Amino acid sequence: MCGIVGYIGANGAVKEVLLNGLSKLEYRGYDSAGLVCVENNRVFYERSLGRVSNLESAVVKSKVLKLIDNKASFGIAHTRWATHGKPSKENAHPHKAGDIYLVHNGIVENYKELKEALLTVDGSIEFTSQTDSEVLVHLISSKLDSNPRRSMVEAVQSSLNLVKGTYAIVVLNIVSGEMVCACNGSPLVLGIADDEGLLVASDTVALIGYAKHYLRLADGDVVSLSPKEYVFVSGTDKEVLELEESGQTSSLGGVFGHYMLKEIYEQGEVVDRVVNNKGQIYDILPKILKAKRLIIVGCGTSYNVGLVAEYLIERLSQISVEVEVASEFRYRDMPMSEGDVAIVLSQSGETVDTLEAVKLCKERGVLTVGIVNVEGSAIANACDAVIYNKAGREVSVASTKAFTSQLAVLSMLAIMLGECRSSLTTIEATNLMSELSNLPAVLSQELDRMSKQMEDLAKKYGSIENIICLGRGVQSAIALEGALKIKEVSYINAQAYPSGEIKHGPLALVDPNTLCIILAPKDELYTKSLSVIEEVKARGGIVIAITTPNGKEVIQSSDGVVIVPSVMDELLPFMTILPMQFFAYHLALLRGCDVDKPRNLAKSVTVE
Ligand code: F6R
Repeated sequence: MCGIVGYIGANGAVKEVLLNGLSKLEYRGYDSAGLVCVENNRVFYERSLGRVSNLESAVVKSKVLKLIDNKASFGIAHTRWATHGKPSKENAHPHKAGDIYLVHNGIVENYKELKEALLTVDGSIEFTSQTDSEVLVHLISSKLDSNPRRSMVEAVQSSLNLVKGTYAIVVLNIVSGEMVCACNGSPLVLGIADDEGLLVASDTVALIGYAKHYLRLADGDVVSLSPKEYVFVSGTDKEVLELEESGQTSSLGGVFGHYMLKEIYEQGEVVDRVVNNKGQIYDILPKILKAKRLIIVGCGTSYNVGLVAEYLIERLSQISVEVEVASEFRYRDMPMSEGDVAIVLSQSGETVDTLEAVKLCKERGVLTVGIVNVEGSAIANACDAVIYNKAGREVSVASTKAFTSQLAVLSMLAIMLGECRSSLTTIEATNLMSELSNLPAVLSQELDRMSKQMEDLAKKYGSIENIICLGRGVQSAIALEGALKIKEVSYINAQAYPSGEIKHGPLALVDPNTLCIILAPKDELYTKSLSVIEEVKARGGIVIAITTPNGKEVIQSSDGVVIVPSVMDELLPFMTILPMQFFAYHLALLRGCDVDKPRNLAKSVTVE
């Protein structure tokens, strides 16, 4: 959450470097943005509400703040996801105190105490924002004022010693050109610019086009930057890595109107990629085979994938599975033992709650295996072993193809575990594997039709304000994921329950203005799903059913139907999720929502 980019070096077009970087980091937060930079001896400082494109327009009209005679070019920029203080120009970063400017990602938990202490010493300090971040810049500035012989890096270090919480910061003195960055619990990478200079950013994607090599900073690092060198003032120097550009960027390519739609369509491809990379799963299999219990941890969509996998793994391999929401995991004090293996799911590899869960598992001696999309990310680095789900860059904030690729990894794992533990025969395992390999071909034939059907249903029911998604068995997890997609992108109140639970309360909500989406493929629980349809219809509710071609009774008794291809029961979740994703997309589009960047959300959740 929040994107940071900084530059110091020889490139005269600093504004362009920073704005380019910011637009690539916009997935981290997009409620306001700002920059300060020195370009051709002139200082520019601009902040604006809303997207980076608003900042771009403001920068074009921006006046020179002052003229200085520092020959170098440098600057810092930020795109914000609000934690403390509403999205506004005043709360946008960089924050300033005299000539010192600062951008921050993370949360300063003790900002109120620090602010009070600062004001007690110097009542004239003027706070102009509601943010926790602003206290940092005043703290650094006051350290410099109280001891003019102190360097900025010393002031930063002694300020950070007082901070409780998480941070990635870049601090700049616009007159001297001193730049310092530091991180603890929020990511930061240092890029070595192709021409002379250095870049610093929240994610390597912001370095593309300007650097081919980079270093990943670790918690506790404080680094002083100048055009020609970086010095680790705290922490140890890091290995210089080659920047892998492929798979880091994605474009709409003129075919799709939104990344969400493009990424839904890419789901066949991602299954294919996982199937063709089964080596990485085989490599880790011996470690997982020893497990007495698997603990799957993740947030949001990643958690929902875990719920689907729980059914699959228990059924196919008879290993017991617990699925845990990462944000609660560390507060549970769950008994764990060496016989446990934690499977950690994260698309971004950055989610702070999931990262903390990894740390806790490791402290308790539990082996951690990450299933992560972003290579080299914090969670990938923290886990004992990693399987990359290779979905390619997922741009839409609402996750779709990452869900399917994580599910493909976990399905393969479940099949392999089942075969090794003899709960599946070799023939059964081979059949499941070959059906999984065949999914991309099935999907490619069905996506257009499903999209069109869901668009028609969205047109018919798009004004409804209450949706209940229901499923039985493994489909209850698909109901949850479908409801999450609908909420995220269309802002319709969508709830999800295991179908059997509806009569224990939620049925009270059902009336002619309630739409129930019932996942009812013709699997072993089909007749149970039929009863739920009847119960909803008897209360006047509207039913859209998702079923397979042989679900005749469901087809007859529902108000709207979408048919998904028949595949083996274990693989049906790959099919039933698709209409849910399409429905959410078309509802959002019809309701004029910002599909790829839903309000209040960000793609990467680096605060607790
Ligand atoms: C939903 C969504 C979020 C993420 C969640 C975890 O569409 O994108 O719920 O799934 O924030 O993110 P990762 O998987 O990056 O840890």
